[in-house]
Order: sequence, then C-alpha cells, then structure tokens
Amino acid sequence: MKSLAISTEDEIKPSDLLTVNNLKVWFPIKSGVVQRTIGYVKAVDGVSFNVKKNETLGVVGESGSGKTTLARAILRLIKPKDGAVYFDGVNVVKANRPQMKMLRQKMQIIFQDPYASLDPRQTVSSLLREAMLIHGITKNKNEATQRSLELLRKVGLDEEHLYRFPHEFSGGQRQRIAVARALVANAKFLILDEPTSFLDVSVQASVLNLLKDLQKEFDLTYLFITHNLAVVHHMSDRVAVMYLGKIVELVDKGSIYYDLKHPYTYQLMAAIPLPEPEAKKKEVLLEGDVPSPINIPPGCRFHPRCKYATEKCRKEEPTLVERDGHLVACHSEVDFSAEKETGESADG
Ligand SMILES: Nc1ncnc2c1ncn2[C@@H]1O[C@H](COP(=O)(O)OP(=O)(O)OP(=O)(O)O)[C@@H](O)[C@H]1O
Ligand SMILES: [Mg+2]
Repeated sequence: MKSLAISTEDEIKPSDLLTVNNLKVWFPIKSGVVQRTIGYVKAVDGVSFNVKKNETLGVVGESGSGKTTLARAILRLIKPKDGAVYFDGVNVVKANRPQMKMLRQKMQIIFQDPYASLDPRQTVSSLLREAMLIHGITKNKNEATQRSLELLRKVGLDEEHLYRFPHEFSGGQRQRIAVARALVANAKFLILDEPTSFLDVSVQASVLNLLKDLQKEFDLTYLFITHNLAVVHHMSDRVAVMYLGKIVELVDKGSIYYDLKHPYTYQLMAAIPLPEPEAKKKEVLLEGDVPSPINIPPGCRFHPRCKYATEKCRKEEPTLVERDGHLVACHSEVDFSAEKETGESADG
C-alpha cells in the first residue's frame, strides 16, 4: 500500500499541473476580551491529490466538508496552516511577487453566484477591460474591445451584449461572462465552485457543455466542485470525495457507480439513479448529521456514521492509500459489489 503524500518537489510528476500536498486550513476560534484562541475549525485537514494536465478532477462532499476552503487555499486567497500547493512546478504557498502575478493569470475561479462576482455597476465591456488592465494584457481601448468581442463569442454571446450591465442578463449568460473574464489572460487552470447550482436544469446543461468545449479548445484543466453527483459524473475524469476536511476516496469516473471502496462514497452514490435500469442497487441513506469540524471524531472521522466501523476505526485514523488501483482511506475492506448484484446490503 502506497501513501499519496509527496515529500519533495522532485516527486511531482511532469504530467501533473497541480499537486496538493498535505494541505491544512484551520480557522482559529477566538473568545473573550483578549480574543484568545480556544480552538480551530479544521476546514481542510491534511489533503493530498494531483490534477493531471487537461483533466477534470471532480470534488464532491456534503456542505461544510471544506470544498470551497480547499479551492481558496489552492489560489492563495487564504493562507494554509501547513502543506504545499504546486502549480506547474511553482509552490503557490511560497510564491514571490512575479510568480504570484503569473499564477493569478494562469489559475482562475468561477463561483456559484455570478451576481456576487460581477460588479453590477460595470458593463461587460468595462469588466473585461478592467481584467485586461489588471493582467497587463492591453491598455489600448480598441484592442481591448476586439479581445472582449472574441472572448464573448467563445462563450456564446455577441457584440450586442458588450455594453449591457450584469443585471440585464439571465443567470446562465452571467455565468458565461464570468467564464469569459476568467479566460482574459489565457488561464490554464479553472476552479469551478458549484458553477451551475444557481441555474435551472436546461441552462445548467448548456453551461456545462460550454465548459467542456472550452476545455478542449483552450487546453484547460478543471477542478470541478459540486454537490450534484450526476453532474460530477458527466464532467469529471476522476472524482475526489471529501468528508470533514479530508479526501476519503479518489476514483476514476468509470468506478463511480460500480467500484467504490469507502462506505461514505457508497452511501453518497447510492442516492443517485443508475444509468442502467436493470442494475439493482439497494437505496442506502446517510444517517446522522455531519459532525462539526471543530470537534472532529477521533480515529476515522466517518466512524460515528459508519455501520462497518470497528474498534480500530474508533482509534486509528486511516490514511489515503492505494488499494486495487483506488485511493481510499478506510480500515474496513467492505466489498460493495455484493450489494450491487443482490440488492442486499453487505452486512445482510
Ligand atoms: N473564514 C472562515 N472562518 C471560519 N470558519 C470558516 C471560514 N470559512 C469556512 N469556514 C468553515 O469551514 C468549514 C468548511 O467550509 P467550506 O465553505 O469550505 O465548505 P463547503 O464544502 O464548500 O460547503 P458548501 O457545500 O456548503 O459550499 C465550515 O465548517 C465553515 O463554517
Ligand atoms: Mg462551498
């Protein structure tokens, strides 16, 4: 069994665009007049993974599992307590000013709510021009207009949209503008944090397809965060499952429905319909609330909600290790394939 964490920069694979190594983001909890630190919200608590060039790595997990915090730490919008993030060989956590300038161009984020991320007082033209000024693309107004038009057409909008304000668009169109802005400086890596969860289903599909097309056209690499398990299957090459600040399983897209090894992932995936109607699957519901990231359970952090938990799970924290071509953090080697075939749960 091989652990995923790397110990030196030399171990980064050339095929990886992003390598995250034992990343931790803890938010201090302050109390009293002198604002003493009395504890920590361990939002991201030792996360390691890689994203290969041109792939989409999906990230799923319940609300509060640390997905957005992970995204913000990768972009250095918050300072991690520990760990490293390498983008194209540069350690983001320790990057100097010129390196940060390059990283701000190459790594971009699209948020869930384009209403909040687009300044309502600026037209699309001035939003895009401002981004070009920030990234030093051009100061020339005509050039900026030309480039804005090109970008708008790439995201399915046109000249008529250039001088409108954000409130004059539909939600889907606003998200297209956010994508155009992210591509102003030839970004290579986009973090998509629930990019379509504000949109209705038909608009969702068209934005997701646009993202897929742009990925091919511009050689983009995506980290795709979502609650929607069907969407993550549609968009991703591999999927990382987060639980209380940790990755508990990392699987290839093909294994999502049929070859899971962690009880949490199995229960999450059991909630979505199978693509093949004849395949039987027992409906398993996740029981209990997500424990607080302030008081993380000892041992395996999923054990209070896991019906397979043993004494070892209550005491010893499992690490993310390779098992049968999977990455999984679980002591109990449950075989869920039995559940799939019989429609029965593995424990009878
Ligand atoms: N700035 C902050 N200060 C203190 N705690 C924070 C801060 N930001 C996030 N948290 C806490 O960190 C934990 C993880 O939050 P995060 O927003 O990363 O979750 P998430 O997985 O993105 O959830 P959702 O699916 O609802 O978007 C939560 O318990 C949250 O309350
Ligand atoms: Mg979030």
